[in-house]
Parts: sequence; structure tokens; C-alpha cells
Amino acid sequence: MIHSRREFLRRAGAAAFVGPALGAGAPWARAQDGEAVALHARPGNVRLAPPDYPETPIWGYDGLVPGPTIRVRQGERVMRRFVNGLPQPSTVHWHGIRIENAMDGAPELTQALVEPGAEFLYDFEPPDAGTWWYHSHHRAFEQMARGLYGALVVEERDAPEVDREEVLILDDWRLAEDASLHASFGALHDWAHAGRIGNWITVNGDAAWSREASRHERLRLRVLNAANARIFSLALKGLEGWVVALDGQPLPVPEAAGPFVLAPGQRADLIVDVAAGEGEEAFLVSRERDDSYALATFPVRGASREVRLSAPAPLPPNPVPALGDLAHARREILRMDGGAMGRMREAVLGGRTGGARELAAPGRAGAFNGLAEMPDMPFFTADRGETVRLAMINETAWPHGMHLHGHHFRAIAPDGTAGPLRDTLLVDRSESVEIAFVADNPGDWLLHCHMPEHSISGMMTWFRVA
Ligand code: C2O
Ligand code: CU
Repeated sequence: MIHSRREFLRRAGAAAFVGPALGAGAPWARAQDGEAVALHARPGNVRLAPPDYPETPIWGYDGLVPGPTIRVRQGERVMRRFVNGLPQPSTVHWHGIRIENAMDGAPELTQALVEPGAEFLYDFEPPDAGTWWYHSHHRAFEQMARGLYGALVVEERDAPEVDREEVLILDDWRLAEDASLHASFGALHDWAHAGRIGNWITVNGDAAWSREASRHERLRLRVLNAANARIFSLALKGLEGWVVALDGQPLPVPEAAGPFVLAPGQRADLIVDVAAGEGEEAFLVSRERDDSYALATFPVRGASREVRLSAPAPLPPNPVPALGDLAHARREILRMDGGAMGRMREAVLGGRTGGARELAAPGRAGAFNGLAEMPDMPFFTADRGETVRLAMINETAWPHGMHLHGHHFRAIAPDGTAGPLRDTLLVDRSESVEIAFVADNPGDWLLHCHMPEHSISGMMTWFRVA
């Protein structure tokens, strides 16, 4: 057990080092020969299951799960030559980055698919510091489920003082008995229900992720839910601290870290002090009904550090434009429909109206505003700089993690107060929420459920900022 886990950690550690090592020197992202650093999507084998099982064949960036953590400072460019070594076309989406449209990785909308054996140069300057990530945006119901994701960390120019940080990427795999990935990619049952819920949970590809810590040590945890469909309900044990950012964007005032929920695609940045005593363990736990279990374990060794008395200062804000006058904002309504036990009677597909049965044959189960496919025309066109209010009405019997590309938004409460900036928002079954954002990023942008089984089944649309 220990032997194989060390093996795995050694390999994962080597991958995690790729970003920072290349970050030294300028221009940092260019290798000696003037070529951008490769990000190579390809099959690989990783040890997800216990040692008495075989390794799991996955698809990963650089053959790893998660892919290498890409790390830059705010103001630096990210440049990666994406090389497609997969048996399918693919693209890379840089989730949460307020990116220039041509680099967004949305197939057919912002770029052509990158065919097997072909390459695409991603080159952009992330405007915001924070915890972002990258993942496949084609056949994500299969490609993300096979492991095509990694973290993109943009460090603050003025980073908070911590002893160290950990990127914790949660995933939920559906493994078959031989520890291979269950072949049920694209099962209509998942599309019509909660998505591809798995049976094997890992942190950074490790089912028993553990790192030693010392008492009173201050850690920054960048927690990311990379699962296709599982909504994680999380809590800390033996760690006390604050949530300092959600979906990469700093909270104006850090909040005491109680239990929190991460829908697929969402992130939380925490600054925590190790409160557990020497010889004890501290945990990030997943809470399932009455049960909770450790996702990440910090065995506490040593108590050399002084107790910190102060809460961390807020992270420096990112240059996200302030919402305009909500009373005069553009208003749009998105009706989310479909799925098993929903109210959808019919929806439009290929110009024809059909009932659930006709939609199921070509693999459609959901719809946005009565349309069970990506529309030819934008859902709406906003003027550049315009404030948009978008009501999302979930008429399905399932929760959906709604993700907006190229922008960050705030949920607007019924009393008009605006919540924190986010890029992905959980809309519960039968819930209606309203979000508002400044459409300041020109181009065509996706708006979809981040559970890829739902987006592919019809819960995906796009809007234009002209
Ligand atoms: Cu993280 Cu359109 O996705
Ligand atoms: Cu969904």
C-alpha cells in the first residue's frame, strides 16, 4: 500500500512541479527553442483504486490525473501548446478566466475542434488572481470523466501570508470491478437524472490523500470540484479558518469557514489554522446524510509554531467591473426544463417539436427555453458594458450547477442585495435565482449546466456581447 502510494505521490509531485519550475525566468512560458510549453492530452494509467486492483487507464493532460498545476503570477501570460494525443477531437476550456473569446475553448463557438494528432496554441493573460482550472470542453461527459482537468493558479501580486498551500481537486469516478472507468459514458439514464455520479472519490487522484501538518500551521486550501455531477457537501475538522474566495474571486470580508457546498465546477479558497493537537489528525470531510468521511487528512506532527491571533486580511480584489443600475438593466429569462420527473412536455430539436420520447432517441433529455440543443442564434445580444439581469427558473427535478463563460456574476436576492462574485451557481430543483453581470467581454459565450451529462442533453446556450 505505502509503496504504491509513494509511487503515485512521486509522480503527481513531479507533475505539480512543472508549472513553477517553468515559471522561473522570462519570458517564462517559452521553452528554449521558442516553442510554448506543451500540454499533452493523452491516455495514461494511474493508481486510483487500492493496490490489489489494477491501475486505471485514464485520459489526462500529460497523462496525469489531475493534469499539471499551471501556476503564474497575476499579469503573466499563460501559454500552452495543446497537443491532442487522444483518439477523439478535443479543446481546452480555461474555467473562470475572463479570457479573450478566441482562447475560451468552446468548440464551434470560439474555435474549431482540435483533431487527434493536431495542436492549438492557447495564449492569454488572466486578468484575475485566483483559483481557476482547465478541462476538456468536448464530449466532457466522457473526456472529463476520464480525467481531463487540472488547476490553473494565478497568484496575487500581494499574496496572503501562509505557511504553505495545497490545491485539493475533488473527483468522483465511476469505476468498474477491474478499476477501469465504467464504460457507461453518455448513458441516457445519467442525462435524464443526476448526471454521471460515481462510486470512488479521490483528492488529486488519491483516495486517501494525506499530508503532514504542524499544530498552528496556517494553510491555504484551494478546493475545486472537478467531478462531473457530484455535489460535495464539505466541512473541516481540526482546522479553523476562513473562506477567502469563491470561484476564484475574493470575498470582500473573509467568512468563518463552516460547512460549505461545492457544485461541479465551483471552487473555494480557505485560509485555515491547524487546531488539532499533536498526534491527532485534521481533515477536510465530505458529509453525506448522517455520515461523514475524510477526503483529505493532515496528521499533526510537531507544535513548533506560534498561535496566530489575527484573521487573514481579505485578498486583494480583482478588476471586475461593478454592476450598473439594476433597475434599468437588460432582463432575460432562462427556463430550465426536462430530465426525469420534470414537467417538460415537449421541446424543439432540429426545428421540430417533439415529446420526451422523440427527444430521447437522439439523446436529448433537457431544454433551455424549450430548445433541446445549442441554438443557431444567440440567446440574447448585450451591448458591451451593459448590465444584464438573468433569471434562471429551474423547472426540472434536479439541481444544476449553472456556469457562465467569460464573466463573473452575482446572485441577486429578492430584496435586491447582490451576493459574492461567482462563475458557477447551484440552482436547486424547482428553485429560481436571478444573477446579474456586466457584459463587458466581447464575443460569444456559453451558458450551461456544468454537469456535462445535462449540458449535452440540451442544457446549453450562448449569448453574444457585441
Ligand atoms: Cu468549466 Cu463550459 O465549463
Ligand atoms: Cu445539470
